[in-house]
Amino acid sequence: MIRMVYVNGDFLAEQDAKISVFDRGFLFADAVYEVSTILDGKLIDNNAHLRRLARSLSELSMAAPCSDKELVAAQQKLVELNGVNEGLLYLQVSRGVADRDFGYPAHSDSSLVMFTQTKNVIDNPKVKTGLKVISIPDIRWERRDIKTVGLLAPCMGKQSAIDAGADDAWMVQDGHVTEGTSNNAYIVTADNKIKTRQLGNEILSGITRTAVLKFAKQAQLEVVEEAFTLDEIANAKEAFITSASLFVMPVVNFDGKDIGDGKPGPISQQLREIYIATAQERADL
Ligand code: PDD
Repeated sequence: MIRMVYVNGDFLAEQDAKISVFDRGFLFADAVYEVSTILDGKLIDNNAHLRRLARSLSELSMAAPCSDKELVAAQQKLVELNGVNEGLLYLQVSRGVADRDFGYPAHSDSSLVMFTQTKNVIDNPKVKTGLKVISIPDIRWERRDIKTVGLLAPCMGKQSAIDAGADDAWMVQDGHVTEGTSNNAYIVTADNKIKTRQLGNEILSGITRTAVLKFAKQAQLEVVEEAFTLDEIANAKEAFITSASLFVMPVVNFDGKDIGDGKPGPISQQLREIYIATAQERADL
């Protein structure tokens, strides 16, 4: 089956899905994106992803490519055309096509591209083993709250983790962890508090983060939204990450040292189970 890709109103076979060389997303990373989970053919927390998309667009004075209603209809059609039961939907909005010039063009139609990826997001083998993570300096720009496609620094970070035999990297600024290369980062302290960095321009406000922190509070777990240090990781009982593609994923080793007993911890596992069990309630379409 040939994968269909959405490009500005058309559903095209992937080999025919093309954008202009002059697209500002290609030339300047002048584009924003969202990745949402598909479970049972439905998009999870899609409304929250669309709200974050609207915020990213507004922070960059970029026009929405179409109404939310049209966007949702196109998402739905794409998932159906590709017969995706479990996986991801990627969407990207760029400022569109204009002759190369740093200033925003006076007139350009923003472009919308979407594709799906079929993936086993629930049965990820890493859930049983947990992830190995290394620390790297956070060399990204200062507006990480905007979900732009300018992702070279996280790509370099992820590759340095792979080169070191690890799964991912946590980025460190002024002695404190900001987030993972494409996920939010958490520890569970010796006194069972879940600690994750507070929101701000330094990190992305994860949709999974919002959901998971709510579940944690409902489960009577104490949540502290505060930046943590590498020493705190060394003394943590557990650690984990969250993202739309990994849900809640345990971290068992940091910079070569085991966290706790080096196995996925009970709180990470509990939060992952709640996230999956409640996903259908949060299926927006
Ligand atoms: N990344 N922080 C960063 C830097 C991210 O890139 C992501 C998501 C998150 C988690 O956000 P959410 O829970 O909304 O997925 C945090 C996506 C999955 C990606 O780039 O593929």
